[in-house]
Amino acid sequence: MEHRIGLIHGDGIGPEIVDEAKKVLDAVCTKYGHTFVYSKLLLGGASIDACGVPLTDETVGQAKDCDAVLMGSIGGDAKTSPWYQLEPSRRPEAGLLGIRKALNLFANLRPAYLYDELRAACPLREEIIGGGFDMMIMRELTGGLYFGERKTTEVDGVRTAVDTLTYNEQEIRRIAKRGFDIAMKRRKKVTSVDKANVLDSSRLWRAVVEEVAKDYPEVELEHMLVDNCAMQLVKNPAQFDVILTENMFGDILSDEASMVTGSIGMLSSASLNETKFGLYEPSHGSAPDIAGQNIANPIATILSAAMMLRYSLDLDTEADAVESAVKKALAAGYRTVDIMSDGCRQVSTSEMGDLIVSYL
Ligand code: NAD
Ligand code: IPM
Ligand code: MN
Repeated sequence: MEHRIGLIHGDGIGPEIVDEAKKVLDAVCTKYGHTFVYSKLLLGGASIDACGVPLTDETVGQAKDCDAVLMGSIGGDAKTSPWYQLEPSRRPEAGLLGIRKALNLFANLRPAYLYDELRAACPLREEIIGGGFDMMIMRELTGGLYFGERKTTEVDGVRTAVDTLTYNEQEIRRIAKRGFDIAMKRRKKVTSVDKANVLDSSRLWRAVVEEVAKDYPEVELEHMLVDNCAMQLVKNPAQFDVILTENMFGDILSDEASMVTGSIGMLSSASLNETKFGLYEPSHGSAPDIAGQNIANPIATILSAAMMLRYSLDLDTEADAVESAVKKALAAGYRTVDIMSDGCRQVSTSEMGDLIVSYL
């Protein structure tokens, strides 16, 4: 069957890791007899260089014509890249926020689990790792501080900056429902993370999550304050099944959760709306410090491609096959430098892609 897939290579390591994920997708096509028709979309710094702005109507239109979009990452080094001489609204990150909003991608799924093979790369002690962990971070993606009004003013030589954190109950309800739906297919536990001891937006969040929970009597709901959650993630990560949280908290907690899986280079993500469409991207950034060196870990992007096969294209067998090929490459002892440990064989970005294809 034919599927239309948009590819956003993006900036920094983006092109390197997307090329590896495409290799894997091409191998899936050959093995299972599908046709993937690719179109290349511009976003972020690459779009600024080509069109002067980080997101164009053309990119949004092209994305809407696709069944799903796979993205690398956008952005550059804020100290050296000319993109950061531009107004904030014209920088690479504004393009990413713009496409999330334009496509209404309010549900960001970031699965963090520890591969048994990566226990040595996990910075936690053996007794804390125990039987491992497997959590799904559900991050609200189109509201909160990221999209509230912001401005910087200067009065009598004193600069003041304001960002606004706003949520309405519809925005909270739809992400909460997604979280509970996913929990029903997992271990039936939701940890809703907020700062309800301080923020009004969190108090509303908690109240709405409580209302939604009534429709899911089988799911255990607990509320946790975000500062405690940051601590619990390294104290006892196995306690979490679904973590349901707002945009900024989810951004921060997912980077923390990624590191306990061994590396941020392992954490995939799916950004979904109410349709089958999704934007799939690793949770990490464009890693300008290692761009162009063929050393970045492509696994987060390859696992994001597997999520795309599963959620947008309904190709579960193929998604399973990609995930199991990743596991086999790790079990055979191959590691990119970020997850390297004693007794393993260090490989490059492209070698890791080739290996995963060979295990498919
Ligand atoms: P980053 O995630 O790019 O890098 C943080 C650290 O993790 C760096 O040391 C980097 O080398 C390492 N790292 C990241 N991905 C890796 C991988 N696949 N393999 C091995 N190591 C990896 O975060 P940052 O440095 O704070 O941000 C760099 C740029 O990326 C910024 O412009 C930021 O805005 C952007 N960014 C984009 C996205 C996205 O496109 N979704 C996400 C986060 C950050
Ligand atoms: C992410 C990134 C983005 C975010 C940035 C680049 C705007 O950190 O996808 O996690 O904060 O959402
Ligand atoms: Mn982030």
